[in-house]
Amino acid sequence: MTDTTEFFDSLAEKSGSGLPRGDYSMADADYIVPQNHGRYTPAQHALWRRLYQRQEKLLAGRACDRFIECLSLLQASGEIPCFDRVSDMLFRATGWRLAAVPGLIPDRNFFEHLAARRFPVTVWLREPDEFDYIVEPDVFHDFFGHVPLLLDPVFADHLQEYGKGGLKALSLDGLTYLARLYWYTIEFGLMKSREGLRAYGAGILSSGGEIRHCLESEEPHRIRFNPERVMRTLYKIDSYQRTYFVIDDFQQLFNDTAPDFTPLYEQLKTQLTLDAGSVLPGETDLSVAGKSQHAVG
Ligand code: PHE
Ligand code: CO
Repeated sequence: MTDTTEFFDSLAEKSGSGLPRGDYSMADADYIVPQNHGRYTPAQHALWRRLYQRQEKLLAGRACDRFIECLSLLQASGEIPCFDRVSDMLFRATGWRLAAVPGLIPDRNFFEHLAARRFPVTVWLREPDEFDYIVEPDVFHDFFGHVPLLLDPVFADHLQEYGKGGLKALSLDGLTYLARLYWYTIEFGLMKSREGLRAYGAGILSSGGEIRHCLESEEPHRIRFNPERVMRTLYKIDSYQRTYFVIDDFQQLFNDTAPDFTPLYEQLKTQLTLDAGSVLPGETDLSVAGKSQHAVG
């Protein structure tokens, strides 16, 4: 009961309007709601198409190949997708389903869904004047950014492990650290490819500005991924990231996060937190261009 009250207070604070943005009145004990696909208006479907088209054009040469492949399999360009249709496809591919939710949900419920291979997707769509930027995740961010890679078996397994790890972190007072890991990988992760760096994080791939910034700007650092380093590092919630962490592939992400984090949490509690833009001795900025570009040039 107090947990629930606290959750709604924190939501109201985030939204700026003093009220949580979504409609939680129909939510069940797991925060699931009916998507009620028929309620979206033609104008909302049209806004979805505009968002999709703008973003799709930015993917070539910036998103990892896997994301581009998987996105097209979802056939979601024409309208706000029906979650049940996509769940059936996902379930056949990797055993995942989508769960419609009113908006942000409490950490424990979020982790429980992931641990059960259910991905929570917000049902509401941003307003036209929020085309470029929203404070809270909407259906475009959640679906376009997160759902495609659920078709990738290794990524799909990793996300379930993250969910289980989240439940464990709750009991170990490790959530601050695990949240940083999520932020710098699932939301803002970069990956190497033979052609240069590519994005796989949902916060990047659903953003018209950050998808260019993270790869084309001179400002941010791009540093080799290391779970301990990431979990010590603060992140930006109201501007582009000052550092991106780069993995080789999803298998590395899976393997590097597989060890028991219990001792790591204890160690992190005694260490100083690093600023979002800090670079440690021995760390190098990875170059954005791949080998082939240099070789051809
Ligand atoms: N291995 C982590 C632990 O023991 C759990 C975890 C897995 C966390 C995958 C993140 C991603 O706590
Ligand atoms: Co997200």
